[in-house]
Amino acid sequence: MSQQEEKNYSVAIDGPSGAGKSTIARSVAKELNFVYVDTGAIYRTVGCQARRKGVDPTDAVAVAALLPGLEITMAYGEDDLQRMYLNGGDVTDEIRLPEISMYASHVSAIPAVRAFLLEMQRDMARKHSVIMDGRDIGTVVLPDADVKIFLTASPEDRARRRYEELIGRGTPKDYDELLREIEERDYNDSHRAAAPLRPAEDAILLDTSGNTFQQSRQQILDIIRGRLGL
Ligand code: DC
Repeated sequence: MSQQEEKNYSVAIDGPSGAGKSTIARSVAKELNFVYVDTGAIYRTVGCQARRKGVDPTDAVAVAALLPGLEITMAYGEDDLQRMYLNGGDVTDEIRLPEISMYASHVSAIPAVRAFLLEMQRDMARKHSVIMDGRDIGTVVLPDADVKIFLTASPEDRARRRYEELIGRGTPKDYDELLREIEERDYNDSHRAAAPLRPAEDAILLDTSGNTFQQSRQQILDIIRGRLGL
């Protein structure tokens, strides 16, 4: 029980896809010795199960019926990578398949899915000092987070980063198509009824357009250290 009585800090980082949340949050968590929780990976794991079972991810009733048979766990390797397990099997790589992004986006709009994952996310914050990134961390999951940051960048900037990332991986994609996909996902994530993407009232807004990774990382570290007195 003493673990739960210790003061654990919680930092919520929300924002649209491609704003650099995960790369920055992982690096900042390492620096501060906090646990980095990538909540998108949890939604991706639910999406993975829907895909495996041949369930239409937009069918709320069918997806909800999968939940009782779903055991999702997380573990952290020596490389600090958050590994995801679905009913005991490692799906860390599978959840990054491009088609899983769409499954995750659809299942994340289903209220039963969000409710199912809520306690799991809160439990991480009760047990550890965390930097948790997602879409609704500051608004729904951890409304009492010690620090809330809403990280964004222009759609063009996010598309350009993704474009360069894909060239680096040897799987280039058309810039205009990437921009269109980003705008479509922004729209879906911010217009759904269940926990839409929006900044918490007490969130610090940070636009990283034009910043280098190091500049954004330093800004976030300064904000967190300033707020927590670390
Ligand atoms: O961050 P990501 O691309 O891995 O997230 C995958 C999907 O999950 C994305 O479409 C939005 C959704 N998501 C969410 O609804 N709430 C979160 N806290 C995290 C992700």
